[in-house]
Amino acid sequence: MKTILVVGGAGYIGSHIVKLLLKEKYRVITFDNLSTGYRHAVLGGEFFLGDLANRDDLRRVFQHYPIDGVMHFASFIQVGESVTHPDKYYQNNFVNTLNLLDIMLEQGVKACLFSSTAAIFGEPLYVPIDEKHPKNPANPYGRTKWMVEQLLNDYDRAYGLRAICLRYFNAAGADPECQLGECHEPETHLIPLVLQTASGRRKSITVFGQEYDTPDGTCIRDYVHIQDLCQAHLLALEQLLHGAPSDVYNLGNGAGFSVREVITSAQQVTQRNITVIYGASRAGDTARLVADATKARQQLGWNPQFADLSTIIQHAWQWELQQLQQKGRG
Ligand code: UFG
Repeated sequence: MKTILVVGGAGYIGSHIVKLLLKEKYRVITFDNLSTGYRHAVLGGEFFLGDLANRDDLRRVFQHYPIDGVMHFASFIQVGESVTHPDKYYQNNFVNTLNLLDIMLEQGVKACLFSSTAAIFGEPLYVPIDEKHPKNPANPYGRTKWMVEQLLNDYDRAYGLRAICLRYFNAAGADPECQLGECHEPETHLIPLVLQTASGRRKSITVFGQEYDTPDGTCIRDYVHIQDLCQAHLLALEQLLHGAPSDVYNLGNGAGFSVREVITSAQQVTQRNITVIYGASRAGDTARLVADATKARQQLGWNPQFADLSTIIQHAWQWELQQLQQKGRG
């Protein structure tokens, strides 16, 4: 049985991964400082409360468990906040990742899966975006992720640390069994905000900008189901543990939906009224991000099961209704 350290395993993507790894019979150790994650979202395995800023915490976990590979999800993810508070992003997303990689090397662990993002590309020169597309991040969040990708490249060349970087476009949806879902505090992502408006937890959803160079003027994104992202991680992990060289993959469905289209789809799925306000554009946003994930399909054998936007929204809606019910009871 292989032992996997999931750094940031109490967060949205990490918690879904932990569930899948356990189902696939991996031994899972979650490392998280619970600054944005939830202990109750870690559905099994062992939990280690620790901070990436503290090399001793990291050393302890590597010395305590026979770790075969690391999956790294712990980072700050708000594009807008990264523009106003870049220090927070460089410190946590870059410097703390350096801590993790250095302790991995010190402890002889040389296989890493890194959670990267479409934000490394910036405003695309062409769509869909393949792996070779030039990198020109439009905000500090994207820059920190791109810096880590380059760091990993250098660490492989110098020290033989192999890494697979998975660049998510817009992770969305929830565990189809409704045990897990998106729970950011504060929530900034479009789909959960729209659904919180549909359920009555929020009064309205504000559309950020209508003057983009897109058919309806609102931003276009490629929404990819969390469960499909998890499957891609599993495939990449298997390759990594079998000695595959470092690589990068874009993960998305290759279909772009505008903010307005997402709201319309949510209206259809939920059959509720959603009050929309049109506001100013958000700093650091790009008009259109759509993935070319041919490489992941061909080399990893990735085959997304929930590519349909309405299914993604349906699963997120199921989760939203359950959250609401629990809050009502509490
Ligand atoms: N949006 C609104 N109103 C809102 C929230 C979002 O109009 O209240 C718009 C945004 O402007 C954007 C789209 O909805 O055009 C999606 O925004 P999200 O905040 O849901 O997602 P982002 O595209 O900004 O960023 C997400 C993740 C990043 C990741 C990126 C890659 O937060 O971690 O996708 O595309 F890097």
